[in-house]
Order: sequence, then structure tokens, then C-alpha cells
Amino acid sequence: MALDIEKIKSDLTEDLKAALSLEALEAVRIKYLGKKGMLQDIYAGLATASIEEKKLIGKSANEIKLLAETLISAQKETLGAQQKSGDAIDVTIPGARYSLGTKHLINQTVEEICDVFECLGFVIQRGPEIESEFHNFSALNIPLDHPSRDSFDTFYLDQEDPDAKGRYLLLRSHTSPGQVRVMKQFKPPMAVIIPGKVYRPDAVDASHSFMFHQIEGLLVDKQVSFADLKGLLTAFCKQYFGEDVKMRFRPHFFPFTEPSAEVDIQSNIFKGRAGKWLEILGCGMVHPKVFESAGYPRGEYSGLAFGMGVERIAMLKHGIGDIRTFVENDTRFLKQF
Ligand code: PHE
Repeated sequence: MALDIEKIKSDLTEDLKAALSLEALEAVRIKYLGKKGMLQDIYAGLATASIEEKKLIGKSANEIKLLAETLISAQKETLGAQQKSGDAIDVTIPGARYSLGTKHLINQTVEEICDVFECLGFVIQRGPEIESEFHNFSALNIPLDHPSRDSFDTFYLDQEDPDAKGRYLLLRSHTSPGQVRVMKQFKPPMAVIIPGKVYRPDAVDASHSFMFHQIEGLLVDKQVSFADLKGLLTAFCKQYFGEDVKMRFRPHFFPFTEPSAEVDIQSNIFKGRAGKWLEILGCGMVHPKVFESAGYPRGEYSGLAFGMGVERIAMLKHGIGDIRTFVENDTRFLKQF
């Protein structure tokens, strides 16, 4: 039994050349090195060979085995690398589709409202969502035992206020603490709006949530009057809710404004609510205690302030019946706006 080692080598080389996929390569491996492959046949043939032949053939067989193993594994690497780089640049594979989102309706509404006030000369400021008890309550003339704290008493953190021993930080229950922060930071005259999230211990239902958005307004100067407040809010309502909007200022109480009022409006843009008075904001003249909290000299300045709920306005304007839809992240809802 003679072994044409050169022929086998050239066959192997040809077979490898033709093996352009990992599957084809595996077939080549089986053909030469497999359990029923060519090498096994050779080894089987050795049984009947003479000692001399055994030596010769055995040597050649080993040579072929080594060669086949080396070439096959080299080819495997090449094919693997080709497949990978091929994947990276295969321009015929359909691309992944990313759907382009829309700005959240709440953010749109905040921007629309802020735009109106910016046109009236107001600048946007922001306050922290984690507030001190001082800014959220005491600085706004809401003492510890005041009943109006109840509906405002919010989520406390178990982190002590670094500026007040024994007092704990909390999630602000309105944007009004921003009033005192802004007054401390800037000198009058000033006109700012402060949009942001607020938190209340309200049970969640279709019109209440433990988190919602407010936009605070504050204007401080010398000789600001209630007429300025009325004029400003009228200008805003006409611009935002339409020229034919009807407004009424209803006396109200807030510890940090005096006098205080709530504003109700009737607007044609409120879907399905024609002819109904709907409350949209609280407002009033800045209370002297608030100026005192900001460290302003007594009697020197006067100011007006207001605060409105964004969700409510967006719901009225777009005929949305449930406040929870804003945070459910259902794109079928969000995409409509
Ligand atoms: N902070 C009040 C609230 O959340 C609203 C308000 C702001 C009232 C400013 C008067 C002046 O209900």
C-alpha cells in the first residue's frame, strides 16, 4: 500500500480553496480528519502492511494530519473574521427603526405658558425639588402649626437640613419657595417665572396626583399694585386662552400673599366646558413676611405673585379626562400632541 502524499496534499489544498463558508470547511474537516475520514482509512489499511510500510505510511499520515489540522484551523479563523467584518458593513440588512418621540405635552404646555410671560419681560428661574422646611413653609409665613400646612405636608426625606438642626428636607409642595430663593439671589426690580415639579400627599385619582407641575410668577419692584397683578394676568389669559376669555378674581387666602385671590376663567378653547367657570391659578400681593424672609428692608418693596397648575390647564385645553395618562408613558397617548 503506497500513499500518494503529494496528491493528498494538493487535493486538500483544492478542497480548502473551495470551502468558502464555515459549513463547507466543516465538511472538508470531516472528509480528512473525521471518524470515517481519509486518515482513518489510511490507519485501517496499516493493519495488513509490512513493518517497513507501516513506518513509511505512518509518517506520511502524520504529516497529512498535521497539515490538515493547521490549514483547516487557519482557514476557520479567516472565514470567521470575514464573516464578522462582513456583518459590520452589510449595507443590505434593513436598518433598525427608531421612532422619533415628541415633546411631552406637559413640557409643551410649560413652554407655551413661559413663552407668554417671557414676551411680557419675565425671565425663567428654577428652584430645587428637594427643599428645606424653611423655604417651603416658614419663609412663606406658614408656621409649624398653621392648618394650611396639612394639605401641603409632603414627602419628607430622612436627611436633616444642613442649615437647620432637627429639621428635615422635603419634596417641595409648591413652586412658591422659589420666590424667596430668587429674592435672596437678585435685587429688585425683578420679574421671574419658576416652572417645575411639585409633590403633595394627595390620593391619586383622575384629577389628583402626588406629583404635578406648577408655574410660579413673581414680580418685585417699588409700588407694584393689585391693578398690575390684574393687568398682567388678564394679558396672559387673553394671549393664552383667547381674546374672548372671561375672567373673575375670587377672594381667597394664602399665607404668603395679602390680599389673595383665585382666578377662574371661561374659555372657548376648553373642550366640552363651555360656560363653566374653571379655577386656573392662585395669586396675590407678596406678604411683608415673605420680604422679611428674603432679608428685604421693611416697606421698601412691593410685589405680585401667582402660581398655576400645568396639568390642569393642559387637561382643560386638550380635553384630557385623567391626569394619570401624563405619566403612563403610553406612546399612543403621547404621540397625539
Ligand atoms: N403656591 C400656591 C399653591 O400652590 C399658589 C400661589 C402662588 C398663590 C403664588 C399665591 C401666590 O396653591
